[in-house]
Amino acid sequence: MDSRLLDATAELDDTQAELSLRPKFLREYIGQAKIKANLEISIMAARKRGEVLDHVLLFGPPGLGKTTLANIIANEMDARIRTTSGPALERPGDLVAIVTNLEEGEALFIDEIHRLPAQVEEVLYSAMEDFHVDIVIGQGPAARTMKVELPRFTLVGATTRAGLLTAPLRARFGIVHRLDFYDVEALTIIVRRSAEILNIPINPDGATEIARRSRGTPRIANRLLRRVRDYAEVKHEGTVDVSIAREALQMLEVDDYGLDEIDRKILTTIIERFHGGPVGVNALASSIAEDRGTIEDLYEPYLIQIGFLQRTPRGRVVSSIAYEHLGYKPGATRRQSDLFS
Ligand code: ADE
Repeated sequence: MDSRLLDATAELDDTQAELSLRPKFLREYIGQAKIKANLEISIMAARKRGEVLDHVLLFGPPGLGKTTLANIIANEMDARIRTTSGPALERPGDLVAIVTNLEEGEALFIDEIHRLPAQVEEVLYSAMEDFHVDIVIGQGPAARTMKVELPRFTLVGATTRAGLLTAPLRARFGIVHRLDFYDVEALTIIVRRSAEILNIPINPDGATEIARRSRGTPRIANRLLRRVRDYAEVKHEGTVDVSIAREALQMLEVDDYGLDEIDRKILTTIIERFHGGPVGVNALASSIAEDRGTIEDLYEPYLIQIGFLQRTPRGRVVSSIAYEHLGYKPGATRRQSDLFS
């Protein structure tokens, strides 16, 4: 499937729309209260001492605001931010070129930091710890290393899977925060804020309906808001309310829990082919022809969060509430509605 409505990874067409919706300062950032409170203290303390902020690691499922927070951290420190990503830094030289061009106090944001090549990561260790890099000049017997001092900077790393970071890299972050899925209340506020910025007339219940079906993810909430707006403009006039939101989301095949076709396929496959589990993630992945990493990063976290899926040492298990939601009797391998057809 090429474009998933509920996919929380950033898509090109979202980028422009999303940029205008991103809060620039902590006070505008909704939800993640604990992280906000902690960051506020860290930032104020660093500012008071006139120091650069410690390196920050942000982890959690896609679409929850890691990039937004990285930019906010830089803004709050009055610092410029340079942005790159793990896979973009192919060789040590790529990283050296960036860090040697930083200015004192700047922030460097590395998205998908778990995908840094090992030799690049090695360079990052000394850059983070002592603010220097060793570069090799020349080749063969004439080669020598030169130590280059760097300005003090704040590295902000983001990853969907903290478990994939090596221990030495992880240990070099002084500030580590995990972003959680947002509750419906916070998402409702986000939808209303976005609607205001985009000039979309919406009433509070309409906003809540979109929030409820956004899998705890602001990026999805904002995307659904735009799709519902399209529907409202074409099929109705005026304000987005609950019934318009429901109609639109039904047409987009987003169900009551915000699950889409692939979520349902994961669950029904486990139920029908693996008797509800346990099933190993590799068997599941090949069964539905999806990439294992995609299942683990994108689909599972939310299904686990809402209690539809459990991760056990022997594999994934579908819970009884998922059976019920999908119309199966407990233990059945066929749907109630299909049994007599
Ligand atoms: N837009 C996307 N995420 C947001 C957040 N956490 N707060 C406010 N607006 C947002």
